[in-house]
Amino acid sequence: MPRLTSQEKSRLYYSASAALDRLLLGTKAVFVGVSLGVLDRETLHAIDQRYYERDRRYWDDEYNTSGLLEWEREAVERHFEACRSILVAAAGGGREVIALQRLGYDVDAFEPHDELVAAANALLQRQGLAASVRHARRDECPELSGKVYDGLIVGWGGYMLIQSRARRVDFLRAFRRQAREGSPLLLSFFNRRRHERYWRIVASSGNVLRRLRRAEPLEHGDDLVPNYVHFFSEEELAAELEAAGFRLESYVPEPYGHAIARAVAVE
Ligand SMILES: C[S@@+](CC[C@H](N)C(=O)[O-])C[C@H]1O[C@@H](n2cnc3c(N)ncnc32)[C@H](O)[C@@H]1O
Repeated sequence: MPRLTSQEKSRLYYSASAALDRLLLGTKAVFVGVSLGVLDRETLHAIDQRYYERDRRYWDDEYNTSGLLEWEREAVERHFEACRSILVAAAGGGREVIALQRLGYDVDAFEPHDELVAAANALLQRQGLAASVRHARRDECPELSGKVYDGLIVGWGGYMLIQSRARRVDFLRAFRRQAREGSPLLLSFFNRRRHERYWRIVASSGNVLRRLRRAEPLEHGDDLVPNYVHFFSEEELAAELEAAGFRLESYVPEPYGHAIARAVAVE
């Protein structure tokens, strides 16, 4: 065995470590792809429901009264200052609803997790605020008594939890119908910028199984973390917004992906 220099050993170490990272990422991609391939939409919904039951943050009064995150506060100050009424989707335990009501906005909201709806409304009442969170079917935007809002917010990370582009666009179209032309929309998501190989393995291994099940295909960017999420590129999000009657105004990938769009005239 030839004696290696420290430089050679360190190069060997880095190559082995990079090979292990690739192997682990590839193994994870196959596991996620196969899971997404065999699990149906209802099961993925049940996994999401369970995820938000287990993550106690969304049930915690201190968290739910902690106000807007820094990037949310900046987005609201910059783009929503002319709004009086705001409709919030994916409201969870009510964090954004409480913060926005405290800022003086008239806020209505909806959320699919029925126990979180009850917890949010109970907390709003204890805070002396309007209990304005209603239950909605997952992936859907309910028709809300003909009220027209000045601003729209999909609560933190909510948009990427909707499975398939077609359903996301339908959701945004229904959301768009509740707002006047020119209204700002804030939504947030995970930004897809690296690991193209990972996304290719997930979608291709999952789609072999989905084709056998005659189920709808997975899309590039679908993932399990452990609940279903879709990771976005800017072009993809811009296209979904445009198909739903919005124009993308700003796309901010960090520290948490979020975008501002504007409701345009719809025929
Ligand atoms: C990351 S939590 C954010 C909750 C709250 N907005 C906050 O910031 O604390 C995402 C919320 O989206 C809801 N959600 C999950 N899947 C959804 C879907 N398919 N359509 C709409 N909302 C969904 C969850 O129940 C959860 O309350």
